[in-house]
Amino acid sequence: MTKYTPIEYKPKDYTHLRGLVGITDEQIEVHLKLYKGYVSRTNALFTRVADLSNDGKTGDSSFQELKRRAGWEWDGMRLHEYYFDGLKANADELRDDNAFAKKVIAQFGSIDAWKADLVGVAKMPGVGWALTYLDPSNGQIWNHWVEQHQNGHPAGARLLLALDVWEHAFAVYRKPLPADRAAYIDDFFANVDWKVVAGRLA
Ligand SMILES: [Fe+2]
Repeated sequence: MTKYTPIEYKPKDYTHLRGLVGITDEQIEVHLKLYKGYVSRTNALFTRVADLSNDGKTGDSSFQELKRRAGWEWDGMRLHEYYFDGLKANADELRDDNAFAKKVIAQFGSIDAWKADLVGVAKMPGVGWALTYLDPSNGQIWNHWVEQHQNGHPAGARLLLALDVWEHAFAVYRKPLPADRAAYIDDFFANVDWKVVAGRLA
């Protein structure tokens, strides 16, 4: 009988992510190590779930707890990929003729208004993600808070931009100064690859 066999995830290569504005190479290195942990734990979790499933143990509490934990590991992996994919060294400013900018201006009135809304989300107390989503059903774009990694994702929406505001994203930042979320958020926008963000509209 054919067995349930999960497909393995491989960590993506982000060695090019060096020399960003403000966000130090050391900060990126620490953050990438954390990302790789999510990839390996996602693989381990899928493998363990498959073992239990293949053994007919889908009613066991261990199976259920792994299923509860899956969103944490998988979203921790995938959100970091959206985050790192959306960054680059020597990034250009977001210009009015960018496809994403056009959509934002049409809905928010200006790039600055959209950005202020997203920064408001990013500065909310707590750990999580400030995310810009597109609703493919009507074209609506909005900024959204996701608690931790897995809580509150809007079903069926398309993720356009991911801003990690967990403290680990800026914990080894600007040494010897203490972690500063506001400065990190400013620097994040200076490093966004807006072509990648626009490419996620389609
Ligand atoms: Fe992170």
